[in-house]
Order: sequence, then structure tokens, then C-alpha cells
Amino acid sequence: SGLRPRPRPERAMCARRPRAGDGVRRAATDALHRRVLPELARASTRAVRGDLVNPLSEELLDIASGAAEAAAQFLVQGWAQRTVVSTKSSGTDVVTQMDRGSEALLVEAILDKRPDDAILGEEGGTRAGTSGVRWVIDPLDGTVNYLYGFPVWAVSVAAFVDGVPTVGVVHAPALAAVWRGVAGGFAQANGVPIHASQCQDLGMALVATGFGYEAAVRSEQGAIVAGLLPRVRDIRRAGAAAVDMCWVAQGVVDAYFERGTHLWDRAAAMVICAEAGARVGGISDDHATDAMTVAAAPGVYEPLRGLLSEMGVAT
Ligand code: IPD
Repeated sequence: SGLRPRPRPERAMCARRPRAGDGVRRAATDALHRRVLPELARASTRAVRGDLVNPLSEELLDIASGAAEAAAQFLVQGWAQRTVVSTKSSGTDVVTQMDRGSEALLVEAILDKRPDDAILGEEGGTRAGTSGVRWVIDPLDGTVNYLYGFPVWAVSVAAFVDGVPTVGVVHAPALAAVWRGVAGGFAQANGVPIHASQCQDLGMALVATGFGYEAAVRSEQGAIVAGLLPRVRDIRRAGAAAVDMCWVAQGVVDAYFERGTHLWDRAAAMVICAEAGARVGGISDDHATDAMTVAAAPGVYEPLRGLLSEMGVAT
């Protein structure tokens, strides 16, 4: 028929079988969250009290923060019950019932406050609106990490006003981190202002990247990384694009690039990066696309784009 065979269920589901260590990790996660979530909620209040630009941004930030926090708590509390319910681009590109539950919760929280807004959601919670505000949400960025209990995963919530990315919140409970940004306002991590690094030399840059789930794409991405490795300080692959980009905004890494992200992976973090002084774009201009997203400290942004382009990365 020309159709690819569907992945066998046991292959798609192998990583979620209960394993030795799940109980220990769950206890550790529970303890972390009993301690950390109230702290993050206080940081959230501090952020909203900060230097905001206008009442609409303040309202959107408040809604984004509350919705992301509720979804993060849902994901933490439901971790032990996580179950793969479907796959997307390949057998390793999984969707859990927690991705879907988190998206339903985000959509409900947003529409409860602003019923006329539009929404684009990774798991299909997409709807048209009439207000000029469009929410772009990733209910669980880093699903594979979440499945394994690797702590780099996040809820990502962005609001666009008349097409302009205006508010971004990335909430990563297992990292005890909430990043927030308001266009023309601020970028913060847990209520504290953040800035991209001062790195000026690509050879000294710590560069994050990510890979798609399809074998053919991955082998091309591997070739690019092989070419880059001798030309940079080192490479990191943590597994959640939104977190990688927030780490650029915070100077935890100097740069990030990836082929094949979607708007929901990068929307919130784009606002945070821009306000933290990082530059974000594609290969040929300052518009990140699904084909290529580069986010970097200003001193290494052009050199990285130049090198990627030299190595034949598609625009
Ligand atoms: C994925 C993660 C990963 C990136 C992939 C994304 P998901 O998002 O952000 O780091 O390399 O490109 O698809 O599927 O976990 O929401």
C-alpha cells in the first residue's frame, strides 16, 4: 500500500513499563515538588508585580503563569501513571495520556478567562478566535524525558497579540525552574532577571541542539553535529527545545540550534530569549522556522548561522 508499517505496540511502549527505580524516582520527585512548587508560586507572584508594560500583557502573563503551573502540577502528580497512547512521526515519537490531559487543562484554564482567544496546541487543542490574541501551547515539551523520568521537560505557554509574540512562560517543575518573558518588559527565571551570555567566540561556545525522531533526519543531524564538534567548546542534547532556548536566555548555554521544531516548541522561549538579549532566527534571516531555529548570545549568533550554512544546513 506504500504505507509504513505501524510500530508494534510493545516497541512503542517499552520505556514506560514499571521498572526498578520508578518508586525511588517518584519519591524524589514528590519530595522535590512538595518543596519547590510553593516557592515557584511565590516567584510567580513576584514576576506579576514586576515592571510590566501594559494591562493586556499583565493579564496574559497572569493567565499563562497560572495555566502552566496547574499543568505542571498535573504532570508531576500523574507521573507514575504515565502511559503511551499514540505515536507520531516514528515509533519513538510518543504521546502519553499526560500530554493530552495537560493540553486539555491548559485550554480550559485559558478559555475560562478569555473565551474569544484562538489557540494552537501540539495535541490538537486548536481553535479559532476573534480577539486578536492567539495562544501557542506545548503541554509537555520533552515527552520522552518525562516518560523516562529524565528531568528536562516543561510546559510551554505563549500568547501572541495581533501576530506578535508577546508573553512566554516555560515551567519546568523537575528542574525547579519557571522562565517568563514579556515583550518590551522583562525576562526572568524564578523571578530573577536573566541575560544571554557574553560569549564572543564560537570556538568557546557551549552549544545545545536537538534531534528529530525520524532515522533519515537524525543521520543528517548527526553529520552536522560531527562537523560542529571540533569547532565549538562542546555540544549538549538535553531533550526539550523550550528548555534549551531558555538556557540560552539565561546563559546556561551560549547557543542552540535545531532543525524540525514546531511553533509550540519555541514560541514562549522566543519571547524569553528576545527579552534576555539573545538573538533568535533561522539560517537566512531573523525568523525562526520549523526548518531551522537558531537562538544564541549576540556574539555567536552570526558565526553559528554562518557555520551551519557552510555545512549545508537547509534554510
Ligand atoms: C521535542 C523536544 C526535543 C526536540 C524535538 C521536539 P516534544 O518536543 O523539544 O528536544 O529535539 O524536536 O519535538 O515532542 O517532546 O514536545
